[in-house]
Amino acid sequence: MDDATQPEDSPALRELYAGFEANHLKPLWTQIGNLMPRHPHPRAVAHVWKWSTLYPLAKSSGDLVPVGRGGERRAIGLANPGLGGNTYISPTMWCAIQYLGPRETAPEHRHSQNAFRFVVEGEGVWTVVNGDPVRMSRGDFLLTPGWNFHGHHNDTDHPMAWIDGLDIPFSFQNDVGFFEYGSDRVTDYSTPNLSRSERLWCHPGLRPLSGLQNTVSSPIGAYRWEHTDNALNQQLLLEEEGHPATVAQGHAAIRYVNPTTGGDVMPTIRAEFHRLRAGVETVTRREVGSTVFQVFEGKGAVVLEGTTHKVEKGDIFVIPSWVSWSLQAETTFDLFRFSDAPIMERLNFDRLKIEDDRQ
Ligand SMILES: [Fe+2]
Repeated sequence: MDDATQPEDSPALRELYAGFEANHLKPLWTQIGNLMPRHPHPRAVAHVWKWSTLYPLAKSSGDLVPVGRGGERRAIGLANPGLGGNTYISPTMWCAIQYLGPRETAPEHRHSQNAFRFVVEGEGVWTVVNGDPVRMSRGDFLLTPGWNFHGHHNDTDHPMAWIDGLDIPFSFQNDVGFFEYGSDRVTDYSTPNLSRSERLWCHPGLRPLSGLQNTVSSPIGAYRWEHTDNALNQQLLLEEEGHPATVAQGHAAIRYVNPTTGGDVMPTIRAEFHRLRAGVETVTRREVGSTVFQVFEGKGAVVLEGTTHKVEKGDIFVIPSWVSWSLQAETTFDLFRFSDAPIMERLNFDRLKIEDDRQ
């Protein structure tokens, strides 16, 4: 910052500054550069976590750490190296790998924070949301919007791991969180193939007349892989046939939405799924707000501020605000994405800059 306006040092000035200090005051002119940088200057850093590292550590936790009331979840949060030891993957979002051993139950509770789960591999756990058992299987995206009771139970003899995403840091920074315990066990141990929420809501283009009131969060408990996969396949097939369908050449993408509004699934979190054909590179972009990807299948790379990181199935990476990024697909490249875009858009802070003219 230009310091032409900084005052000359003098005993009187030092006395003034001591007066500020003693009275919990800080002058803007000494810190405007940090408070109002010319563009976002995140403390969070871009970072990649390898699934080949995460999963064995989660598994060891399963061997050593019980799950139950108090600790609530065997969840290991990804702590952004730039955020001073806080368990935040970004200033607004939490991301954790959660691990549930054979026949284990994670007790029910509820909190103001909005949560989702995404399953990169495995099956056999049901999450019970307000008494509705929701099957968790590979590729499924599951919702637990704020203040809904939820617990998990593993109905099999093998362990299962998945990722949790929440708005915990946003909630913590703004002191908006409430929390309550529920049942020490889940309230319904049945294992239906489809949750009641799906039976009511998951029929394309059809809205139940019992659900005409719009809801802040999506009423759908699980967005199934078969639908996501088919939607992406159809986009690429339509593109091959010469019809507009993809977001860019060779790049199919969907956003999970609240069927009552067409908007994001929850007030603070956006979730999407992207599929790139082998050889496709995305444009390089910068966006306000933070975003997290998990590779679901395939191999490729993410370029973060010009540095290329190879990533494959299960790897998770975070892109803080205004960090440049692009994706490169080595094989067909499937990625789950979530971000704090609903917060940024609602508050009108969202901004996008495309850095080059590739497709
Ligand atoms: Fe929870």
